[in-house]
Amino acid sequence: MNKEVKLEDIVSLAKRRGFIYQGSEVYGGLSGTWDYGPLGVALKRNIMNLWWQMFVEDRDDMYGVDAAILMNQKVWQASGHVDTFTDPLVFCKKCHSRHRADKLENPNKCPVCGEEGSFTDPVQFNMMFETVVGPAGFGGFNSIELENGETYTKPQAEETNIAALIFDKNDRSYLRPETAQGIFTNYKNVVDSFYPDLPFGIAQQGKAFRNEISPRDFVFRSREFEQMEVEYFVHPEKWEEAFEQWRKDIEVFLDKLGLPRESVEEVEVPENDRAHYSKRTIDYEFAFPHGKDELLGLAYRTDFDLANIQRASGKTMEYHVKGSDETFVPHVIEPSFGVERALMAVLTSAYREDEQNGEKRIYLALPEHLAPVKYAVSPLLKNKPELVEKAREVYQMLKKKYGTVMWDDNGNIGKRYRRQDEIGTPHCVVIDFKTLENNTVTVRDRDTTEQKRVEIGSLDSEPST
Ligand code: GAP
Repeated sequence: MNKEVKLEDIVSLAKRRGFIYQGSEVYGGLSGTWDYGPLGVALKRNIMNLWWQMFVEDRDDMYGVDAAILMNQKVWQASGHVDTFTDPLVFCKKCHSRHRADKLENPNKCPVCGEEGSFTDPVQFNMMFETVVGPAGFGGFNSIELENGETYTKPQAEETNIAALIFDKNDRSYLRPETAQGIFTNYKNVVDSFYPDLPFGIAQQGKAFRNEISPRDFVFRSREFEQMEVEYFVHPEKWEEAFEQWRKDIEVFLDKLGLPRESVEEVEVPENDRAHYSKRTIDYEFAFPHGKDELLGLAYRTDFDLANIQRASGKTMEYHVKGSDETFVPHVIEPSFGVERALMAVLTSAYREDEQNGEKRIYLALPEHLAPVKYAVSPLLKNKPELVEKAREVYQMLKKKYGTVMWDDNGNIGKRYRRQDEIGTPHCVVIDFKTLENNTVTVRDRDTTEQKRVEIGSLDSEPST
């Protein structure tokens, strides 16, 4: 990073260049939700694919799953989320605004109306989004008017078995607040299908939802976000070595994201701040534009989840060591990554400003494997059909090889370069009159802005790392 990156810089670039827009913006937005534009979705996928490749495909001890977002409510009762997945909520008695008590800059002063000493005592607010599964969701009606004008009155649960099925609390469900439980509930399935040796891991990527009291700092704290999680099952006595190995693996991944080592700090979480399930947690904090804050977490979850599932479901979660009598409920190491926070850290690390020919330039020095567009191809002049035709040929050739190649013939070459710099395109290829003579093109490097002339054939053989 060549300067203190401000949050406004990132937000403005993200919107201007089609990375991230406010969710439901056209209707005034929906707080804590974000939509990914064409370049944002490409960058996000590149991050997620890198993670999947490194932590699933390149390893022999990892199994991927993709569980349903809606799960039986018993999952969240057994996991402790129904009772304890809460944040302290306070109300301002003057302006009636709502705040998360533990995140207030001044716990005595309302940040909205400025009133001092106006907060109520806190109430524990559960962050899970509750929903209803099946056709029982008429807002807890007692009677309802049908299309033919008749009134239908809700039966009492005890009147008939069907009524009990339809109207009792079994229809309640939650949007999952973490992907982890979809892994734990499939632990037995994976063991029965693959019978892997310990240690082994199950990985999942996908959406998670939390009704955050105060969404903030762009996508950093959202109400809908994505996680990339591994539950790594180990012998209870071997958790420490697995934990240490995960610290090393996480470091490699963060290097591949292009985060400078000095921007990331491992913070040992003290016992009273740890989640209810954890016996040890390290938070990886990154120097975000809004300050140092949690990028991801590494937790030792003991046998908390599998033991709970065993108790609540009555089904054994014990692992039987092949060729021995030893059985036990495995313990778990959990590296848990948030996609949005990884993306924000990548953008923050890549954001650069410099001066070219007396003009300010903004560019994203993204690692090439994360860049949404690998090559931009332009004819020098768009009103010369022979240049356009040749440029189309080069474009098709590169597109076949790299996929993410952009055609850009808008404005003059200088403007095209600026636009591509801002979205982090590592190479801009220009087809000019010399190309027609000797089959060479200019290739401009995003970071140095240097141009070199190369044979068209050699473009195709450049490494795509
Ligand atoms: N399964 C463990 C778990 O969910 P967590 O610390 O609550 O642990 C893990 O969340 C990661 O998910 C965080 O480190 C962060 O990267 C991401 N995350 C959590 N809440 C988030 C939110 N509201 N918005 C964006 N990312 C979030």
